[in-house]
Amino acid sequence: MIDSWLNVTFLHKNLAPAGQLLHDALSQKTAVMAFNFVNMEVVHGIISAANEGRRPVILQVSQSAIKYMGMNYLKAIVSAAAEESETPLVLHLDHGSSFEICKLCIDNGFTSVMIDASSLDFEDNISVTRKVVEYAKNFGASVEAELGTLHGIEDEVDTPRQKAKFTDPVEAAIFIEKTGITSLAVAIGTSHGPNKGIRGKAHISIDRLRQIKNEVGEFPLVLHGASSIYEDAVELCNKYGADIRDACGIDDADIRESVKYGIAKINVDTDLRIAFTGAIRRTLETNRSVIDMREYLKESTIAVQAMVTRKFASLP
Ligand code: G3H
Ligand code: 13P
Ligand code: ZN
Repeated sequence: MIDSWLNVTFLHKNLAPAGQLLHDALSQKTAVMAFNFVNMEVVHGIISAANEGRRPVILQVSQSAIKYMGMNYLKAIVSAAAEESETPLVLHLDHGSSFEICKLCIDNGFTSVMIDASSLDFEDNISVTRKVVEYAKNFGASVEAELGTLHGIEDEVDTPRQKAKFTDPVEAAIFIEKTGITSLAVAIGTSHGPNKGIRGKAHISIDRLRQIKNEVGEFPLVLHGASSIYEDAVELCNKYGADIRDACGIDDADIRESVKYGIAKINVDTDLRIAFTGAIRRTLETNRSVIDMREYLKESTIAVQAMVTRKFASLP
């Protein structure tokens, strides 16, 4: 379904809902990158890279990121980003756990929300998702939902590997039909955070994704936990005092393959965290007299920009 603008009360006139962008990505056989942010520096890095690469981008916040920044600061940062952005920009709630948090974000001018009721049973997931879709419709905002369960830590909820459940392809088609969502997050083997694999191997099931696409047709699917956890970025962090062990992410080749089978939105948080932290660690370690925050935050902004550019380059 393509979003219709009814009562547009978005935070900023330059912000767009996600629906049209995701459909455009599908038809162009590419995907839109969605990056989590928690401060101004991360947003600076993302917008600089998006302007340079001429790529649309989804800026997304988790509930804990909203708590961390405060809604008013967050909105001010994103309004400024919308002024600076030369490409389409979306403000999206990531992993909203209730109707109320989705409503709060829509009321505050978000152009897209995710209702993550994937821990509920199928019918309850449909019912809360449907309620969010009905509300969002009045504002022209997009709605992402999730079916199946990723393992790993997701906004303070830790799902052990054995409780993770791949998305059922037939259920996916019914779910889309009954809810009227804009996009669907699927569980096909990825997980959040820097440890996505068993014994150094992370694997996404392209087979399962193909089955899902067969059932749902040309519909935007979302890949959560899509960070690549690049070895060089982890090594840089560890060289300057971090202790990131058993790091393992999704190969860029697997990301490109997944785009062939309907993945239209790719969620990345951890790759930016590693880039940001590595740059700060290196600056503080190599210049011990630094006390001006701008000295190291400038480096981390540049590192985020470079990482976002690297993520764009990984797309087909
Ligand atoms: O999906 C989870 C994201 O990586 C956000 O994590 O709740 O620590 O901000 P966070
Ligand atoms: P990563 O932890 O792989 O970056 O995934 C982020 C994510 O899916 C946010 O919703
Ligand atoms: Zn996620």
